[in-house]
Formats: sequence, structure tokens, C-alpha cells
Amino acid sequence: MLLRLVFLVGFVAAAATRSSKLVFLNEENWTDIMKGEWMIEFHAPWCPACKDLQKSWNSFADWSDDLGIKVGEVDVTVNPGLSGRFLVTALPTIYHVKDGVFRQYSGARDKNDFISFVEDKKYRVIDPVPDYKHPNSKQMAVVAVFFKLSMAVRDFHNHLVEEKGVPSWASYGLFAGVTLALGCVLGFFIVIIIDQVFPTGPKKGQQQKQTAAKKTENKKSESPDAKKNGNNNNAKENKKQK
Ligand SMILES: *[C@@H]1O[C@H](CO)[C@@H](O)[C@H](O)[C@H]1NC(C)=O
Repeated sequence: MLLRLVFLVGFVAAAATRSSKLVFLNEENWTDIMKGEWMIEFHAPWCPACKDLQKSWNSFADWSDDLGIKVGEVDVTVNPGLSGRFLVTALPTIYHVKDGVFRQYSGARDKNDFISFVEDKKYRVIDPVPDYKHPNSKQMAVVAVFFKLSMAVRDFHNHLVEEKGVPSWASYGLFAGVTLALGCVLGFFIVIIIDQVFPTGPKKGQQQKQTAAKKTENKKSESPDAKKNGNNNNAKENKKQK
């Protein structure tokens, strides 16, 4: 009963600081930020600096209609793919997005600074995220898959160790084994694919050897003639000299 009350109070307190204008983004609907102007924050529940930011971020979100922008947030613990896409290496990370152009915000984490960043267009002096690491690019989609995969592996490891009582060395051993086996299978397929793409690989080599052998034969057959000619010429010259 007491625990429930504590939860309820906690919930109400959290709801009180939460802006109704704040937009939550996840792996499925994050591409909404490709349209219009946004400020988005990447955070995690365990990060103390994120908790410090929460209040000013929410009051900044209350201003979003006046500024004509949207203010969003992403929980990286439930959206590991997005932390991969946006290369989030520190928390909290804040991005400004306008018409698909991404810029990382590195100013003071204060509501008034956020507002003037947008209102006075201070983002203009910041270099946009280059094409090769644009969050909506194909290569970052691949990075996102790897982040999701590694998070899934970690979750599975924790599940084995904490809930199934598997010793952690056994879990590591399992993953090492699976990785090796996958590597073998992948390697096998890559060899097959290469064989399909370059089907005459070994034969070509043989042909080259054969043509090379023919050439040397030709040279050999030519060289006696050349010598003969040379001799003839010499003979002619000798005759002339006489
Ligand atoms: C994205 O999905 C989440 C979870 O369903 C939802 O809470 C949020 O409002 C959605 N955001 C947008 C921009 O649609």
C-alpha cells in the first residue's frame, strides 16, 4: 500500500514536470523530424545530467508553439537503433533539425539558451552533420541495425545470467561459439558468391599461363630466324666490304 502511494506520488510529480507539448520519438516514428524544425534530446533514465535537464527541457517544450518548432525526446535505452543512427556517445545529446539538416547543440542547457538558439537562428554558425553520417542515410541504417543487434545480445546475455542462472563464462562461450559459426557460414557464402561473380577465376589463370607459354614459344621460334637474318646481313656487309 505504502509502495503504491510512493509510486503514485512519483508518477504525479513526474507528470507535473512533463510538458504536454513534448513529443516522444521512437525507432518507428523518428522520421517525423525530417519535416519542419525540431529540437530533440537523447536521454536515458539512469543518466543524472539528463535528470538535471528534464525541467528546463519540458519548459522549453511549452514554448514550442510560440517558436513554431517541435520539441522531442528519445529514450536511448528503449531505442538503441536511434543512438546508433545519431552516433550518441554522450548523454544528454541535443540535436537541432531544420528541413532535414542536422546540427548538434552544444550550448548551455538552459531554457533561455534553447529559445534564443532557435529564435535568433544561432544554429547557423554550427556546421551541419555531414552527408556520410546523416541519420537518415543508408550507412547509418546499417549502424542502427548493429546497435540493435548488440543490445539484443546484451539483453539475452543478462537474461541467461540473471534469470536462468547460467554462469557468465558459459554465456560468453556460447556467444563466441555462435560468432565463430556465423563467421564460417558467412565466409562460405561469400566464397560461393565470389565464385558466381567471377566464374572463370581459376581457368583464367590457366589460360594466361598457356598464352604466356605460347608467347615464349613464338619468341624461341623467331629468334633463330632473327639470328639467320642477322647472319645474312653480316654476310652481305662482309661482301660489300670486300
Ligand atoms: C511515436 O510513437 C510513440 C509510441 O507509440 C508515441 O508516444 C509518440 O507520440 C509518437 N510520436 C510521433 C511523433 O508520432
